Amino acid sequence: MWFYLVTLVGLYYLLRWYRERQVVSNLQDKHVFITGCDSGFGNLLARQLDRRGMRVLAACLTEKGAEELRKKTSDRLETVILDVTKTESIVAATQWVKERVGNRGLWGLVNNAAVFPPISYIEWLKPEDYMSVFQVNLIGLAQVTLSMLFLVKKAQGRIVNVSSVLGRVAFFGGFYSCSKYGVEAFSDILRREVQDFGVKVSIIEPGSFKTRMTDPELTMERSKKAWEAAPEHVRESYGQQFFDNFYRVTKQNLMMSNTNLNVVTDCMEHALTSTYPRTRYSAGWDAQFIFIPLSYLPTSLADYILTRSRPKPAQAA
Ligand SMILES: NC(=O)c1ccc[n+]([C@@H]2O[C@H](COP(=O)([O-])OP(=O)(O)OC[C@H]3O[C@@H](n4cnc5c(N)ncnc54)[C@H](OP(=O)(O)O)[C@@H]3O)[C@@H](O)[C@H]2O)c1
Repeated sequence: MWFYLVTLVGLYYLLRWYRERQVVSNLQDKHVFITGCDSGFGNLLARQLDRRGMRVLAACLTEKGAEELRKKTSDRLETVILDVTKTESIVAATQWVKERVGNRGLWGLVNNAAVFPPISYIEWLKPEDYMSVFQVNLIGLAQVTLSMLFLVKKAQGRIVNVSSVLGRVAFFGGFYSCSKYGVEAFSDILRREVQDFGVKVSIIEPGSFKTRMTDPELTMERSKKAWEAAPEHVRESYGQQFFDNFYRVTKQNLMMSNTNLNVVTDCMEHALTSTYPRTRYSAGWDAQFIFIPLSYLPTSLADYILTRSRPKPAQAA
């Protein structure tokens, strides 16, 4: 009995491994448009796909970011300036892409650009701290996708949306997590709607990785500012000791982030080049072994695990 079971499971993984190794043909003729290429995963993916011979169309937020990327890549890679919160910028970038891809269409669209609000409890933040998170991470992603979808449909290509484990378990990063839940929902709806056109949609769910977004010094500085700007009655209800502890523990956790960004970009590359891309990619040991399993637990059990060892606010009931 056990022998048959183990053989069956082994066979399943062997077949899956073989299937996932199949690569689409003519990669050198395929265009991939990536948002947020100034730094982090977007920047690394642009260089990785360029080395692989693909035609990379890299969107950067700043001219400086674009210039630095061009210095490190081949002449094949082209850059454009794109702010995903600005409709006119998206329209101009779409036209730019259309001129480059011609009748072949756009093989890959990678929605990678995002921002992180100050790390804090949601009650400490003001609307101006978190509006941009929805504007960039969710509305911007949706607008770029809808603007370029006709080009992806033409190529029967791929859309790769970068979410997060925080889009599966909301335990940290308040409004960022809300925006990533939105990315998950948008991607699920999109995948079901465009599959008949031959377009495949993949979601990348990284755990914690060391990038500009998670830089402990910069991030915690913003967190401190948000705390100091929170209304007096809110700060009193938590207490300074609570914040100091939150600051210390969060900074320690950020310092332990994974430094191997290739774990994430390899998933993105697979989603773009494999004949059979996955719907979801969990990237990083924390995502695979802690947070994704946690997301399948009953909510009350997940709540208990995530909050049991947390210090209590000063005015806790
Ligand atoms: N790092 C992690 O632990 C982690 C975990 C899970 C998911 N993710 C996701 O991974 C993706 C990439 O993040 P990352 O970690 O590589 O951080 P990152 O280095 O900060 O990359 C984000 C990029 O988006 C750009 N950007 C910001 N606002 C923009 C806008 N309005 N329009 C266009 N581009 C804009 C940034 O440009 P500037 O640098 O010039 O501001 C930056 O290049 C994001 O979707 C993020 O949510 C990251």
